[in-house]
Amino acid sequence: MKKISIRTSHPYEVLIERGLLSKCGELIAQVTSSRKAVIVTDDTVGGLYGDIAADSLKKSGFECDTFTFPHGEQSKSLSNLGDIYDFLCKCNITRSDILIALGGGVVGDITGFAAASFLRGIDFVQIPTTLLAQVDSSVGGKTAIDIPGGKNLVGAFKQPLLVICDSDVLKTLPKETLAEGMGECIKYGMIRDEKLFELMESHTLETVDDIMDEMVYSCIDIKRDVVEHDEFDRGERMILNFGHTLGHALEAWHHYTDYAHGCGVAAGMCLITDKLAPQHSERLKKCCEAYKLPTGTDIPMNELLPFCSKDKKNEAKNINYIICNEIGKAEIVKVPFGEFCRLMED
Ligand code: NAD
Ligand code: GLY
Repeated sequence: MKKISIRTSHPYEVLIERGLLSKCGELIAQVTSSRKAVIVTDDTVGGLYGDIAADSLKKSGFECDTFTFPHGEQSKSLSNLGDIYDFLCKCNITRSDILIALGGGVVGDITGFAAASFLRGIDFVQIPTTLLAQVDSSVGGKTAIDIPGGKNLVGAFKQPLLVICDSDVLKTLPKETLAEGMGECIKYGMIRDEKLFELMESHTLETVDDIMDEMVYSCIDIKRDVVEHDEFDRGERMILNFGHTLGHALEAWHHYTDYAHGCGVAAGMCLITDKLAPQHSERLKKCCEAYKLPTGTDIPMNELLPFCSKDKKNEAKNINYIICNEIGKAEIVKVPFGEFCRLMED
């Protein structure tokens, strides 16, 4: 089993191995004295893996209930959060009990926020079941829900007690969802690790399972390093947002409905690299194409740029964007928003 220790204000381990889901009970029992758990999951993941997780927890002596909600971003809502709180009350969950997020980033984000806020904070474990959740959202402690004013606008930093990554569960992901996770993996290669980028560019969506554990390990290890230096997102952590400035704009332009985050990241990385580091454009685009990810957009820049001005990374009239002048090295650039628009529209 591969292990990565995350040394944040509340340190924890990420465990990576095929087949770990059916051992989650014994693994969780090693990090908590609690023996009462609530699994939070969505209907798709619950149907596929809920029983395996619950059986394993029960075998290890946990009393276990499950809260299931409809899959999809629309469930990362205040009303669903309220339903989770009500369920925890009904189960008489106390501060010494534990929540288990079994699912993708939607489940992880809302369960993490419920854990951060219920009874002013209880422990939670992440069992991420999408590639995006394994390499990104389950590690680093960002939790959130969406409100009508915007995506992820209400949240908290709350590190999990443990993260369990079982790449076998990724085999049931729709190909498009797997591809979306690859958008984030390619990002890690671009910002920090040319060898990882080479590994990914020598595979495709069809063969990526052969390198899954190695790739997931490398991506999480990069996230570990960044988060350990800047747990609360005050500077360096911003490099994780390579491709996200225009990516978020693309998602927002589509009203967060039919355009996936990972596709936005891929298109965003390609668009900014095309303009500002064109020497790497072809390699980046080829890699995205191998994973069936978009490499640009037909939406005119003048329609996308207004959405960039609402980015959470911005300060006053300036915008912070990330650029990779070498594959494996990222730089944060702060410029007046008008200058960014001129660069991108040029
Ligand atoms: P998701 O959680 O909606 O999962 C995508 C779909 O895949 C869902 O329909 C889900 O039911 C299904 N699914 C999940 N695992 C499956 C499996 N093993 N087999 C079959 N189907 C499965 O989406 P996501 O892409 O995992 O996460 C997106 C969310 O993550 C967004 O809300 C985003 O804001 C958030 N996010 C958070 C962070 C963070 O740092 N906290 C980072 C990146 C993204
Ligand atoms: N997903 C970006 C971050 O964790 O900071």
